Amino acid sequence: MKMKIISAVVLSMAAMVGVGSQAQEIKSVRKGELVAPIQPAKVTNKAMVDLGAKLFFDPRLSKSGFISCNSCHNLSMGGTDNLKTSIGHNWQEGPINSPTVLNSSLAIAQFWDGRAKDLKEQAAGPIANPGEMAFTHELAVGMLQSIPGYTAEFKKVFGSDKIDINMVTQAIAAFEETLVTPNSRFDKWLAGDDKALTAQELRGYQTFKNSGCVACHNGPALGGTSFQKMGVVEPYKASSPAEGRSAVTGKDEDRFNFKVPTLRNVELTYPYFHDGAADTLSEAVDTMGRLQLGRKFTPAENADIVAFLKTLTGDQPKMMMPILPPSSDATPRPTPFEKK
Ligand code: HEC
Ligand code: HEC
Repeated sequence: MKMKIISAVVLSMAAMVGVGSQAQEIKSVRKGELVAPIQPAKVTNKAMVDLGAKLFFDPRLSKSGFISCNSCHNLSMGGTDNLKTSIGHNWQEGPINSPTVLNSSLAIAQFWDGRAKDLKEQAAGPIANPGEMAFTHELAVGMLQSIPGYTAEFKKVFGSDKIDINMVTQAIAAFEETLVTPNSRFDKWLAGDDKALTAQELRGYQTFKNSGCVACHNGPALGGTSFQKMGVVEPYKASSPAEGRSAVTGKDEDRFNFKVPTLRNVELTYPYFHDGAADTLSEAVDTMGRLQLGRKFTPAENADIVAFLKTLTGDQPKMMMPILPPSSDATPRPTPFEKK
């Protein structure tokens, strides 16, 4: 609803200033679908988005000077690292699979257990997480403050000579909000183009709908709208100790509930599940059928669903590789190696 109102406003503004068709709302002409098209990003503060892009790519926000947000959410690889679990500071093995940052602005909350309410709150986590970037907010801000290129840019965006962590996370979140992937073949089909899907892909979508996948994987992101139990019909044997939503709510009934992940660009975001245990889409679909729905798909049904899922790959964000301002003589030097 909120999105509709905002896009209506943006559309009328666009008409006034004559912005091209790029920012237009994409409507689904198919009635009764539980999936909606992805809308293109609407940039309201380009200077802030550009600053956020630099911060997203800047490894100096980590203690090692080597790990940036992009290390684990590689925008050349669907916003993930394509690893079972991530590699953090000092080559530490992470506890959980890195979800994509693409379309993450569409989710009800951030992280597998939803412990951050939005992207801004989320962005404060990894910088200070000893298993990820292993820095502190004070050191990160001090580092930025020592770089004239950054102080000038923060001043331009926030009107202040003094950088603080809120500005850092706000700019990163503004950048992440632009990381949406409209224009997938499935969205073209939703918008009325009957030729956008092959017969097999359409069959896959029908099986996806009729067997009940869409009860959890719905909305524009085909996910991110609820927390659900992993292993509804049959328990899931996880290869990690993560407990899911109960870690946030403290409620036993939330044990092993995870945020339903988006299926947008899922062809690019392997391996799958919070523990990264499923290497292939075919395996993930088979597990979902059995554990969530008590249904064993035939190889042909499985192949149809996989074919459908691959139509959810949209236009990847296009951007110029941001060029980062150089450190000054006063910038503290990184600690890439630590003796154990
Ligand atoms: C060392 C790897 C690593 C680095 C570096 C890293 N992340 Fe993550 N990120 C993860 C993992 C793993 C998760 C999932 C953690 C969880 O759910 O408990 C995650 C979760 C997220 C999410 C939530 C997505 C969702 O669907 O819930 C967002 C957004 C995100 N990271 C953005 C960032 C930003 C911004 C930075 C830089 C400030 C960053 N990450 C740095 C590994 C990393
Ligand atoms: C009861 C809710 C529910 C139903 C029904 C459901 N899913 Fe899921 N799906 C989830 C949850 C929760 C996860 C994350 C589980 C985890 O990582 O432990 C998930 C994960 C996935 C993933 C992995 C995504 C990733 O990035 O890791 C795929 C693919 C998937 N589901 C496809 C399907 C398909 C296809 C169906 C129908 C056969 C289906 N799901 C039915 C809730 C559901």
